[in-house]
Amino acid sequence: MEGISVRRVSGKDLGRIKEIADARLRENYSPDLFRYFFEQHSRCFFVACDDSSVAGFLLAVPLDQATLRILMLAVDDELAGKGVGSALMDKCMEFAKGRMMSSIVLEVGTDNKEAIDFYSNRGFKMTGILTGYYRDRTDAYVMKHYLPM
Ligand SMILES: CC(C)(COP(=O)(O)OP(=O)(O)OC[C@H]1O[C@@H](n2cnc3c(N)ncnc32)[C@H](O)[C@@H]1OP(=O)(O)O)[C@@H](O)C(=O)NCCC(=O)NCCS
Repeated sequence: MEGISVRRVSGKDLGRIKEIADARLRENYSPDLFRYFFEQHSRCFFVACDDSSVAGFLLAVPLDQATLRILMLAVDDELAGKGVGSALMDKCMEFAKGRMMSSIVLEVGTDNKEAIDFYSNRGFKMTGILTGYYRDRTDAYVMKHYLPM
């Protein structure tokens, strides 16, 4: 998609981020949770914008010095398949590489084929399974991407 830009989150984005999360993610997260990450962990909290409106977001936090964990990634349904998720993932990888981290890890529902394919096509490998991980008891795969040093 032309004209997509990725930048750090701002406080004004949080309402739109919650809307996208509610529409696209399995779990329901409170506005306070987004505000908490914005205030405490916004170094790897990015939004992708089409003109001025937010089309998707990615939130990740360092687990330790070497590992970045993606907590949430979601793109507006109407803009899916147009490269927004890829642009957010590129930015996340750039963030991790810039900090000399060695891997990025995430969890994804075992029934979420679209996202599993998306991550696999970007170098993530399944490294484990978490039984009953989600509130609705769906299992999750742990997927990991090793960054070249
Ligand atoms: C998974 C997700 C983040 C991908 O974002 P996206 O902006 O659609 O990703 P891109 O357009 O950059 O790439 C999507 C891939 O699927 C293909 N695709 C084609 N049409 C598509 C469509 N309508 N929807 C999604 N993907 C599509 C693209 O060609 C691309 O293929 P590739 O992996 O071979 O490059 C997004 O679909 C999403 O928000 N899903 C729901 C939330 C979710 O499951 N998040 C992950 C939870 S762990």
